[in-house]
Amino acid sequence: YDYDLLVVGSANADLVIGVERRPGAGETVLGSDLAVHPGGKGANQAVAAARLGADTALLARVGDDVHGRMLLHSLRAAGVDTVGVLVGGAPTGVALITVDPSGDNSIVVSPGANSRLAPEDIRAAGSLFHASRVVSAQLEIPLETVVEVVRCMAPESRLVLNPSPPRPLPREVLDACDPLIVNEHEARVVLGDACVSDLPEDWARLLLAKGPRSVVVTLGARGALVASAAGVFRVASVEVEAVDTTGAGDAFTAALAWRLGTGADLPEAASYAARVGAAAVTKRGAQESYPTAGEVEAL
Ligand code: RIB
Ligand code: NA
Repeated sequence: YDYDLLVVGSANADLVIGVERRPGAGETVLGSDLAVHPGGKGANQAVAAARLGADTALLARVGDDVHGRMLLHSLRAAGVDTVGVLVGGAPTGVALITVDPSGDNSIVVSPGANSRLAPEDIRAAGSLFHASRVVSAQLEIPLETVVEVVRCMAPESRLVLNPSPPRPLPREVLDACDPLIVNEHEARVVLGDACVSDLPEDWARLLLAKGPRSVVVTLGARGALVASAAGVFRVASVEVEAVDTTGAGDAFTAALAWRLGTGADLPEAASYAARVGAAAVTKRGAQESYPTAGEVEAL
């Protein structure tokens, strides 16, 4: 394989303002100076994997604008192969992010060019799929594009999907996931009517019954659950002081996808990923906060 990981997904400019508290409807609050960071779940995953040392490519679309150039620069600086990053068609995606004093964030995304990443773009990038051991996707691009990813994958490569932002998934996509990675909110949306319990252990089993070969339920500071035919296991979290959680889930997913490709089993890959995600919350921004493999060892 030429690539350990091919990420298919979004690239956004993250416009971030720190606030004491979020405004309600009709209310205005004053916040910090504006910070502009490279982000987007796809680009974040690609940068996270590359910083850990994975040979990584990204298939995405950005606008022919200053935000698109910022993203290409960040990707290349991390060592991501950007041969699959298409330019033009709409403005680069933007995420408007507020971060509160506890490090929690709220995000509104304008998909822009991400919404123009079309099934035919996936078909045109066919050779990237055959060159990649693991493929990782999220849902900030059209669902029909993700369906096309499933259809273009080489039979022996592995799909890791984080359905974020969540929506119900067709069986064809669910069946291909190994694993499907969800947080609590995403678990409820993907389960829909089948969400008959409040227990994460039950969600893991119920999600598995929908078709994926494996499932990971992330529980923030409470760690994660991994589920497959081998059973359900709990993975411990790593305690750190949270500064900015933006993009920590993307770092978790990328690290897990890469470790699986190197032959780790799911619990091993998830506990390594938990350390990578923990490192990411200790610094501001998404991509700029991602650790190298050496920094993960030091944690
Ligand atoms: O997962 C974090 C990412 O979500 C941010 O970088 C933002 O761009 C949104 O897509
Ligand atoms: Na961060």
